[in-house]
Amino acid sequence: MERELREQMVSCGASYYQRGYSVGSAGNLSLRLPDGHILATPTNSCLGSLQAERLSKVTMAGEQVTGDRMSKEIAFHLAIYRQRPDCNAIVHLHSTYLTALSCLDGLDPENIIRPFTPYYVMKVGKMPLLPYFKPGSIRIAETLAQHAHEANAFLLANHGPVVLGTSLTEAVNAMDELEETAKLMFLLKDSNVRYLTEAEVSELRP
Ligand code: 13P
Repeated sequence: MERELREQMVSCGASYYQRGYSVGSAGNLSLRLPDGHILATPTNSCLGSLQAERLSKVTMAGEQVTGDRMSKEIAFHLAIYRQRPDCNAIVHLHSTYLTALSCLDGLDPENIIRPFTPYYVMKVGKMPLLPYFKPGSIRIAETLAQHAHEANAFLLANHGPVVLGTSLTEAVNAMDELEETAKLMFLLKDSNVRYLTEAEVSELRP
């Protein structure tokens, strides 16, 4: 099981890199292993060339067990897992359109994207904006711990998205939908958009 989950993380990383969702060493992935430890991408690793046996295995207390040195964002991954027993995987990217969105002023911090397509509502629901702190800051972990129960996707201001899933597949699918939705927002920015009505949104919610 652990072996398969390691392979899955490697292939998700490669997919993000090949599709241009991650460049250089940006972004990190993690998942909860059946033994209760967390498996995460090592710091400064390129998501396009991860190696299954070198992934970082970490205790819930944040101690490194095996693998290369853990991501500098491990604290925020652990903070979410502690708050959300239903969360088994987390994806953090600096993908182009969501990061562009994270740099805009005047966003609605409760939910940055007003729904205009059904899959955004079905796969993501809503995405609050969290304040800017430098990458690796413990303040990111503290803020995410505080808001973890409000949504399954968050946008870190001037930084990028954090998406939670019950599995890595679910987190990846939600992240894909989110990045595509952000792209559509930029494509439609000068257009007269018909947003979904309250009734249309409510019938989509699980
Ligand atoms: P790490 O290389 O330490 O995982 O950090 C990458 C990143 O995306 C920081 O936000």
